[in-house]
Amino acid sequence: MKSESISKYRPFPAVALADRTWPDRLITEAPTWCSVDLRDGNQALPIPMSVEEKLEMFDLLVKVGFKEIEIGFPSASDTEFCFMRRLIEEDRIPEDVTVQVLVQTRRHLIERTFEAIKGARRVIVHIYNSTSTLQRRVTFGDASREDIKAIAVTGAEVVKELLPTLPTTEIVLQYSPESFSDTELDFALECCEAVIEVWQPTPEKKLILNLPATVEWATPNVHADQIEWMCRKVSKRESVIISLHTHNDRGTGVASTELGLMAGADRVEGTLFGNGERTGNLDIVIVALNMNSHGIETGLDFSNLSSLREVYERTTRMTVPDRQPYAGELVFTAFSGSHQDAIKKGLDRRAREGDEKWGVPYLTIDPHDIGRSYEAIVRINSQSGKGGVAYILDQEHGYDLPKTMHPQVGKRVYDLADQRGEELSAKEVGDVFFTEFVNVNSHLMLKDYELDYHSAERGELACKAVIEIDGESKIVEGVGNGPINAFVQGFEETGLKDFTLTDYRSHAVRGGSSSDAAAYVQLRKDDGTILWGVGCDPSIEMAGVKALVCAWNLLR
Ligand code: KIV
Ligand code: ZN
Repeated sequence: MKSESISKYRPFPAVALADRTWPDRLITEAPTWCSVDLRDGNQALPIPMSVEEKLEMFDLLVKVGFKEIEIGFPSASDTEFCFMRRLIEEDRIPEDVTVQVLVQTRRHLIERTFEAIKGARRVIVHIYNSTSTLQRRVTFGDASREDIKAIAVTGAEVVKELLPTLPTTEIVLQYSPESFSDTELDFALECCEAVIEVWQPTPEKKLILNLPATVEWATPNVHADQIEWMCRKVSKRESVIISLHTHNDRGTGVASTELGLMAGADRVEGTLFGNGERTGNLDIVIVALNMNSHGIETGLDFSNLSSLREVYERTTRMTVPDRQPYAGELVFTAFSGSHQDAIKKGLDRRAREGDEKWGVPYLTIDPHDIGRSYEAIVRINSQSGKGGVAYILDQEHGYDLPKTMHPQVGKRVYDLADQRGEELSAKEVGDVFFTEFVNVNSHLMLKDYELDYHSAERGELACKAVIEIDGESKIVEGVGNGPINAFVQGFEETGLKDFTLTDYRSHAVRGGSSSDAAAYVQLRKDDGTILWGVGCDPSIEMAGVKALVCAWNLLR
């Protein structure tokens, strides 16, 4: 912003709470979760969900494990009203799930809401009125504190008056001083106390005080101070459930919620993937998975996040950004070479040592735990390192390259990615490897190879190979303690040996229906060049011989 714009704004006042305790607290258990996807989320959609879409979303929220679900604003429209009626009349609300309905503190709207919930087993009736200085001044035309408190009290009284009309429905009461985040704390408390006075909660029949950061005006520590202040000052604390409802205007809805929980809140309202007004509501997926990642049970099951995301994107017509924690397309993908390397080491070590606790660099959780796969973890572009390429060849193609071969293959793969200016798929990485490093037969072609175990001295064997070198056929014969050594000796006899064999490895190729063996031969040329070649063949001996031919060719 330019200075002349910045001068329009002022600092947000701190809360006078010098002896705050929340900074030393840890989150050790999950709060009660309430989904507001079907209300705050839905009201913020350019195209709101249809009744059928709301039903699908409702079933999804139940499946995830939400026990409290705000299903809408039944007095606001026929769609909302009908939705509530369908849930009740079609008996779609499971025994252990309580639906919540929102309504302003106005008699006719509250009456309509009570009509909508008739016949439900248990419902949270949630009333709200806006309390902040800004709203009092601008929206309500300089309304006084008394006027605003009276709105809250009237609403609470109407609700109380209507309770006996639904004797078979258990009704839990909830009040929100809307715009709490920029309401003077003493006035927010005054409104809450006035409602408490009307509703008279008890420890057995608690009421919910929801303290919304309707707009996120301040840093999360200020929010935490506000919540701790309210938790300390509210009367009948043992009869009151303190609920958080954060929005994300400053991008810190998650942090505000986490600090708010440390400050003493019992309950959290939010949505899947943070859908909601403006920058959205709190993303409950993030907060719950953050807790899981610290070993805390939440009662919410996000083990199949991708299918959840599919329903969410289809019914809301919103999209989850690529970098969204946990759910985003790219969040378990490492492009940087050093990250890929460290991830591979971490995963290998876990596979080897079977560590009970998670500890893989750069990954806060095991992607499998939320239904993501390792296949997508390492993707290859020109910024990738050798570790990433080796990881792909190992995981996707079953080739466990010797460590000293990683740079040789890695360079070729990321040079290609650079040339193309785009990411390479696992298949393309494999194509480069198989074309350029496996069974390469370019100058020297192996036409035939036979071993004779009897004609040589004890413990040795003889080989006879037919090769074609630059179009000319030759016979190579040699003796050695193994097929490769025998072939190397044959190279010497034929005048083709300008190298030393410096390393050799082999293993069975893993995965698929392959019964091949892979062999790796490292040669050092007399001029000092060192290269690996790979041979692949159903016979491990032939794989070694082919690897030698391949390395020889690569040295040319
Ligand atoms: O953000 C908000 O203040 C709300 C209230 C209605 C709870 O959504
Ligand atoms: Zn809201």
